[in-house]
Amino acid sequence: MKLFVSEGNPHCLKVLAALEVTGVKCDVQYVNHEERVVPFLSRPALPALLLPSGLHLFSSNAICRYLFEVNGQDSSELCNHWLEWEATELQPALLHALHMAVLQGKGSEVSKVLQGPLNYLDQSLSKKSTPYLTGEAVSVADVVLWAALYPILSDSSLALGEHKSVKIWFDHGAAVHNLQCAAQKVLQGKGLQGMKSYMQKQPAPQSSQCRDTQPCNSSPAESEEGERLVSEEEIEAAALTWGKSLNNRPLVVNRQHPILPEEGKRNLLVTSALPYVNNVPHLGNIIGCVLSADVFSRYGRLRGWNVLFVCGTDEYGTATENKAREEGLTPQQICDKYHAVHSSIYKWFQIDFDYFGRTTTEKQTEIAQNIFWRLHEHGFLVEDTVEQLRCESCQRFLADRFVEGICPHCSYPEARGDQCDKCGRLINAVELREPQCKVCRQTPVIRSSKHLFLDLPKLETQLEQWLDKSTGTGDWTANAKQITRSWLRDGLKPRCITRDLKWGTPVPHPDFKEKVFYVWFDAPIGYLSITANYTDKWETWWKNPHQVELYNFMAKDNVPFHSVVFPCSLLGAQDNYTLVNHLVATEYLNYEDTKFSKSRGVGVFGDMAKDTGIPSDVWRFYLLYVRPEGQDSAFSWADMATKNNSELLNNLGNFINRAGMFVTKFFEGCVPAMELQHEDKKLLALVGWELQQYIQLMDKVKIRDALKHILNISRHGNQYIQVNEPWKKIKGGDTERQRAGTVTGVSVNVSCLLSVMLYPYMPAVSQTIRDQLNAPQSCINTMLQGTGTFVCALSAGHRIGTVSPLFQKLEVDQIEALKKRFGGQQTTAQAAASSQPATMPAPAAPAAAAAAAAAAAAAAEVVAVSGVDPEKAKQLTQAVAEQGEKVRALKAQKAEKTVITAEVAKLLDLKKQLALAEGKSPEPAPQKGKKK
Ligand code: 2FM
Ligand code: ZN
Repeated sequence: MKLFVSEGNPHCLKVLAALEVTGVKCDVQYVNHEERVVPFLSRPALPALLLPSGLHLFSSNAICRYLFEVNGQDSSELCNHWLEWEATELQPALLHALHMAVLQGKGSEVSKVLQGPLNYLDQSLSKKSTPYLTGEAVSVADVVLWAALYPILSDSSLALGEHKSVKIWFDHGAAVHNLQCAAQKVLQGKGLQGMKSYMQKQPAPQSSQCRDTQPCNSSPAESEEGERLVSEEEIEAAALTWGKSLNNRPLVVNRQHPILPEEGKRNLLVTSALPYVNNVPHLGNIIGCVLSADVFSRYGRLRGWNVLFVCGTDEYGTATENKAREEGLTPQQICDKYHAVHSSIYKWFQIDFDYFGRTTTEKQTEIAQNIFWRLHEHGFLVEDTVEQLRCESCQRFLADRFVEGICPHCSYPEARGDQCDKCGRLINAVELREPQCKVCRQTPVIRSSKHLFLDLPKLETQLEQWLDKSTGTGDWTANAKQITRSWLRDGLKPRCITRDLKWGTPVPHPDFKEKVFYVWFDAPIGYLSITANYTDKWETWWKNPHQVELYNFMAKDNVPFHSVVFPCSLLGAQDNYTLVNHLVATEYLNYEDTKFSKSRGVGVFGDMAKDTGIPSDVWRFYLLYVRPEGQDSAFSWADMATKNNSELLNNLGNFINRAGMFVTKFFEGCVPAMELQHEDKKLLALVGWELQQYIQLMDKVKIRDALKHILNISRHGNQYIQVNEPWKKIKGGDTERQRAGTVTGVSVNVSCLLSVMLYPYMPAVSQTIRDQLNAPQSCINTMLQGTGTFVCALSAGHRIGTVSPLFQKLEVDQIEALKKRFGGQQTTAQAAASSQPATMPAPAAPAAAAAAAAAAAAAAEVVAVSGVDPEKAKQLTQAVAEQGEKVRALKAQKAEKTVITAEVAKLLDLKKQLALAEGKSPEPAPQKGKKK
């Protein structure tokens, strides 16, 4: 006998595996893919087996079966069932998946096409008590399926979701030496890439499973009408799951502090980049950091993972010193004031931190100095004299961010002293061409000073080794990987970690006692110190890389500090630190067709969102819907209104409301009995599939993509209601009434599932839905387990609560008014006033009373723009008088000049606010010591 095979051909893997396992004697000949070994066939067919009779077998499953028969193992009925299933169901999906993974680089999407078959296999295996498909020993069915799935299942980079039973079965097979041996021969140890040349010669899959215009984004198989086709297996599996009972383990959302890593659990340490304290965050900041991390943390808790989510304000540095000078406060007062502003904004956005701390704490000093000394001891710090820019007019060294000039690399005219926003390169401030002090616009001079540098070149090899591992196993967004690669490609250079400033963590070294740590050395240590302020056992999170997975969320400009500089500090400190495993970086969010700008008054800032009257959940929804995931995106008022009105109101809200109203109106508030028909089960399968997609995407932190699957479910639901017309059937005979009951019962259960899936995105709406349905809390624990478990959580007889609409329409004129208000029409002073909650006038009484939302918005607009507020003016008059007294007293006492200056600045600020409250145009505060 002679067996003809070719390298990289997945079908040949099956027959070689069968040959190895059976030990049948046979001559194996490797030929190229095009070779026509079966003379009478018009196309090349490999593998092919030339039988002693001179006949050929040229279907891989027939060859396998033959080899087993020669070995005395005839295939049973069950074996044949699996071989048939492999050929007709699994193979088309596999070929499609291989095509995507090997040729299209869409490894992340293969799960979409393989989900159905894998679920079916998983369900079947889970019901067996034997290790193999047909019994205690490896059969031809195991060999064929194992070899067919090997290229996909052995590639850990493909996210296929959880198929526990498949995994156990596959691992059993992998332990069979002969099977591994065959896999090595065919794929040459190159994994999927070993199949590239074979795949290139295959026709692209053309079945209804993949249309090039809609490449597998929506669903794996669609009918001609664009409706997703679900297989009978999927339908049966979904119906089976539906009947499972709710899981009663304790609720993870009600957590007990302090949260510490637990043995046997997935322990996730989630951080969001620490926002600079001195700025009010805008929507782009919010979506990039805290909101994304919040959604993922909430999701993780639903999945039953042990999550700790920490964040806090980044408080040190020149920016704070400047702000303090501007506002006539001390840096500490500025930090206190703005830390509170940040906290209240995040509270309004329902960011559910486990702890929201700050960097100006003793723990910060202790931990930063400890890391510093360890780096010093291990020889990773070097000393050098550097040239720095000093502004003589402002009388201080200029921090990198406070110098602007022409980028030495790409000539961008507005490059900052630390980084160029155009070409992304890091810059040494003294290299900038035509530098200017950002505060007074004078040209700074160059001065020399001695500083300490982190020796990045010495840590480069260690860093690269670790990066290979982390990016290979973790979820790093493409931009994070690419930015990191480009940093390494350019070669690492020592980075200065000290600064000539006052407001920072002091450098403990006696030779540098006038200096503080550079904010970018200091700030990431804030993650550790904030955790230390949360719990004394902080090291169980931060010095525990084997038990803890670290997720860092940020916008892309923060990437190099988290992927290179900070990991080097931790590696060099040699203290078994937990390093980032998953680096999730967003692109930029623009505002309409421009950038957010505080100084121009363009864009919506965190503290203004609540004054729009649009609920926090709707803001969250829209920001997550346009999350700059993979590419820049834009916030647009018109689009926000469209998405609110079409997706939330007409799609999601409409479905949930109708389902609930049917129960209330037709069944006296009690879930009716459900007799599932094929059509209902099909809906369960469709919904189940969307749920699986959601879980797979969320597991990979594809937050925006996952949201679309929630909306698909309500779309399916609306269609289901539309087709079945329960409002008509309820008026019919018994059978019809029963149909109305089933459709209603299934629909409210879909609403219940939606409430769980919505929890990470819209926590308040999620809770409202469960309240309206009077749903058991345990539904939260159940639905997101494994690959997704859509169970009947509201069974017949369950009494629901009071149903009411979830969303409101956003009207055109309301949106127009908001757009005008935030579109840069404001004066700087008004922008500043509206950024401070204390001076933001509350919506005027007539506006609150007005019925129409549009009228309310318009009225609020008038108030916001004119700023007139007699009550506030009265208070401010009083405050100005008191502050004036204070200044006069200080002058009389001949108090220190800095103290007097600070109080004068406060006085000027109060006068400015008073002018605004009186509807006058405030004179710009004179800027002391600045030449015009
Ligand atoms: O870019 C920023 O807003 C920084 N404050 C982020 C610091 S993240 C971490 F390192 F603390
Ligand atoms: Zn540049």
